[in-house]
Amino acid sequence: MPHHLDIQFSAKFSTTHVQLVLLHEYEGIINKVDEGLMETLLAACNLADFSGKSGEFLPVYSSYGPVLIAGIGKGMDAGLSAETWGGRLFKQMQSVPFNQLQMDADLLPAEIMPSVLCGALSASYYFDQYFTVKKPNKIAAELHVTSSNKTKLSRSWKQYKALVDGVFTARDLLYEPANVLYPEEFARRCAELEAVGLDVQIIPEKELKTLGMGALLGVGQGSRRDSAVVVMNWQGGSDEAPVALVGKGVCFDTGGISLKPAKGMEDMKWDMGGAAAITGAMHALAGRKVKRNVVGIIGLVENMPDGNAQRPGDVVTSLSGQTIEVINTDAEGRLVLADVLTYVQDKFKPQAIVNLATLTGAIIVSLGKEYAGLFSNNDRLANAVTTAGGNVDEKCWRMPMEKAYDDMLKSHIADIKNIGGPYGGAITAACFLHRFIKNDTPWVHLDIAGKAWSEKAKPTVPKGGTGFGVRLLNEMIDDWVDMK
Ligand code: BES
Ligand code: ZN
Ligand code: ZN
Repeated sequence: MPHHLDIQFSAKFSTTHVQLVLLHEYEGIINKVDEGLMETLLAACNLADFSGKSGEFLPVYSSYGPVLIAGIGKGMDAGLSAETWGGRLFKQMQSVPFNQLQMDADLLPAEIMPSVLCGALSASYYFDQYFTVKKPNKIAAELHVTSSNKTKLSRSWKQYKALVDGVFTARDLLYEPANVLYPEEFARRCAELEAVGLDVQIIPEKELKTLGMGALLGVGQGSRRDSAVVVMNWQGGSDEAPVALVGKGVCFDTGGISLKPAKGMEDMKWDMGGAAAITGAMHALAGRKVKRNVVGIIGLVENMPDGNAQRPGDVVTSLSGQTIEVINTDAEGRLVLADVLTYVQDKFKPQAIVNLATLTGAIIVSLGKEYAGLFSNNDRLANAVTTAGGNVDEKCWRMPMEKAYDDMLKSHIADIKNIGGPYGGAITAACFLHRFIKNDTPWVHLDIAGKAWSEKAKPTVPKGGTGFGVRLLNEMIDDWVDMK
C-alpha cells in the first residue's frame, strides 16, 4: 500500500522537524513560541495578509528557521472538516523543508487529531507499481506528532488507521490493470486478508457450476480466465443475523458480444469497483474488530467476446431458478449480482443487504459524478445508508423504484430479460436486482458507476480509484441498529 506519509507519535519535540504553528482567526497563534519568533510570525502574517482561514497555510523563513503557519479558522471540528484540513496539510508537506513537520496535538481537542491524520494519510496515497522510474516529483513526508497523552492518541489512531488501510486496499485493487487482476488473482488477494482475522472462502468456477450459478457463469464463459466468488466473513457480534455486503467484480467489461466502443474502454478495468469497496470495507471492519457480524461477498468475472461467449438472446438459468433472457451482454453486472445475491440469502439469512456496483452509465446521466444512486425496498435502511454516506462525504441520492419500471423487464421467452427500454436504465437495472431479493429482506443497491474512480482530486482523495464505499459501509456498520 503505497503512500507518502510516515506518522510518528512522541511525547517529545523533535529538533530535526519543522514546526507547525496554528493560527486561529480570533485567538491568533495558539502555540507557545518564544517572543522573538512570535513577533516574526505575526509580522509575516501581517505582510501576507494571512488571517488564518481554515486549511490555508503560510510558510515563513526567518533567522529562527523555517516555520509553517496553518490556519484553523474559528477552531476545528472533528470529522470531515478536520480530515479535509489534514489533506491540505499533506499537500504542504510535498515540498522541502515542510516534508519533515512536527505538530503539537495537545493544542487541539483530543478527537481532532485522528481525523487530521486520517485525511492526511488518505491524501498521500499513490500507485506507482508500474513506473520503472518511481515518481521523482514525490517526496516522502514525515509527520512527528507530539502529545502528552501519546498512548491514548495512538490507540484512537489505530481505529482510523485500520479504516485507511481498508480504503487503500480498495484503491490498490482498483488501480491494477485487468491483465494482472483477473478474477482468481482478485480472489487470492482477498485470501490475504485472513491475516486481519477474516474468514475467506473462495468458490472456484467448478463449484459455481455445481451450485447452479448460471447467470454469473454465462457472463464469464467468454473469458480465458475462470470466474470466482469470494465470501469474506467477519463474526465480531453475538448470534445476530449478519449484514451482507455484496459487490460487482467485473475485472474487465468489454461488453462481451454487445461490444463496447473502443474509446474509453480502458476505463472498464474499474468495473470491479463494487467488489473493491466490499473487500476494503471488510478489511477495515476486521482491522477495527467491530462487534458485528458482517459477511462480504463478491462475484468476480471477466466479460469478454469469444467463440464461447454468451450471445444476445441466450437464456440462462440463475441460481434462484428464475430464467433470464440476455438481450444485451453488456448488461452483465446485474447477472453476476443476481446469483451472488441469491447465494448470500440462502446461505447466511442476512438481516439486511447492501450491494455496490458500477452498474450503469445511466446513473451518471441521471446524477452526474457527485452522487451515487441509491435504490431500496426499505426506507429505514435507505436512510441509514444515506446518513452514513453524508457523514463521510460519500453522498447517495435515492432514486425511485416502482412497478412501471419493473414491467419493462418482461421477456417473451423467459421469466425476465436483462435490460429494460431506452430510458431509466439505472432504475430498470435496480428493478432487475430486486427480483432476486427474497422475503422483502431490507436491501439497498448503490450504483457507484460515477464514483469508483475520478479524474478530479479532492483534498483527501487523489484522482484515480477512489475507494468510494469503504468509508460509507464502515460508518453504516458503526451506527447499525438491528433491523428486527
Ligand atoms: N460497467 C457498465 C456500466 C458503467 C458505465 C460503469 C460507465 C462505469 C462507467 C455496465 O456493465 C454496462 O455496460 N451497462 C450498460 C447497460 C446497458 C447495456 C443496458 C450501460 O450502462 O450502458
Ligand atoms: Zn457492461
Ligand atoms: Zn459492467
